[in-house]
Formats: sequence, structure tokens, C-alpha cells
Amino acid sequence: MSRMWTGLLATFAVAALAICLVWVAWPALATSEDSAAEIARLKAEIEQIKGRLPSQSHAMMDVDYHFTNLWFAAASKNWPLAQFYLNETRSHLRWAVRIIPVRRIPAGEIDLRGLLEAVDSTGLADIGKAITEKNTEAFGGAYRRTLEGCYTCHKASDKPYLRPRIPEQPESRIINFDPAATWP
Ligand code: HEC
Repeated sequence: MSRMWTGLLATFAVAALAICLVWVAWPALATSEDSAAEIARLKAEIEQIKGRLPSQSHAMMDVDYHFTNLWFAAASKNWPLAQFYLNETRSHLRWAVRIIPVRRIPAGEIDLRGLLEAVDSTGLADIGKAITEKNTEAFGGAYRRTLEGCYTCHKASDKPYLRPRIPEQPESRIINFDPAATWP
């Protein structure tokens, strides 16, 4: 008889323990299911947003625009405008490299961050100095050295056909480059 009681008691204890466990674990199980669904939803959303981001070549077209206008701003000795276009060139180059920091090329991988740093701390820094000093001659030299830096990165990225040159005309048609303009 006492053995039967012990057995019953043990069964009851095991059942109670199981109920307790389910009771304690249930919310956790439900939460982990919820968070898995949430993570899946977020992943899908990130993929969607990625598809809407501009490409690296699009950001580089902005660099083309700003760096071209920069040449004509300096040629017109419009130094504040030149400073503006230099700043835009720098920030759009950084943006372009943030979009794809490391490119895959047939020979392996190429880290664009180091290449950009080299151009930024030499050619672009010298352009900045020339603008501050309003020195047209120094500007011309620094601009040419920067173009060589642009091309170094294009070659390293396996795109030697992207060969830049001194621009023939400004990209903007609406901005007046004349620093002495009086209208509007
Ligand atoms: C750190 C590397 C790097 C530097 C520095 C760099 N570029 Fe580029 N550029 C690229 C890469 C990579 C591409 C190709 C992007 C692609 O195809 O997705 C490119 C593409 C371009 C394009 C073609 C865009 C198009 O789709 O029509 C132009 C124009 C351009 N760059 C101008 C410049 C100029 C001007 C400079 C210097 C002021 C410069 N780039 C500096 C890496 C660089």
C-alpha cells in the first residue's frame, strides 16, 4: 500500500514539475518564435532598402559633377565656390567608398578605403591649400595630381577605361561661376 502511495506521489510530482516547466517556458518559447519572425521580417526589409540605395557608379557620377565644376570655379577665381565643390567632391568620394568599401576583382579583393585616403591626404588636401591661398597655379598642379589619383583607383578597381581628363566645360549650366556677378 505504501509503495502504491509512493508511486502515486512520484507520478504526481513528475506531472506537477512538467506543468511548472511548461508554464515557465511557454512565454519564452512564444517570445523566441516572435523574435525569429521579427528578425526574418527585418531581414526582408533590409534587402528591400538595399535595392533602393544608389550604386557606387551613381555616387561617382556626383564626384564627376562636383570635381568638374571645381575646375571652372577655380578658373574663374571664385574661391568660395571652389571650396564648396571641393567639400562636395570629398564627401561624395567618401560616400561612394562607403557603398562598396572592398571590391572584388579577378585578381582578388581591392580595399578602396586606403586608396581614397591616399588621394584625400595628397591631391585633395593640396587643392584645399591652393584655394585657401587663392593660388591658381598651385591649384592646377594639385588638380592634375588628383586626377592621377582618381585614375590610380580606377585602374586598381580593374576599370582602366575610366580615364579622367581636364574637363572641357562645367557640368552645371545654372550656377554662375563669375565671382563679380551682381544678379540675382
Ligand atoms: C577609391 C577609389 C576611387 C577613387 C579615389 C576615385 N574613383 Fe571614380 N570610380 C571608382 C570605381 C570603383 C568606379 C566604378 C563604379 C562602378 O562601376 O560601380 C568609379 C567610377 C567613376 C566614374 C564613372 C561613373 C559612371 O558610372 O559613369 C567617374 C566619372 C569617376 N569614377 C570619376 C572619378 C573622379 C573624377 C575621381 C577623382 C576626383 C574618382 N573617380 C576617384 C573608384 C574610385
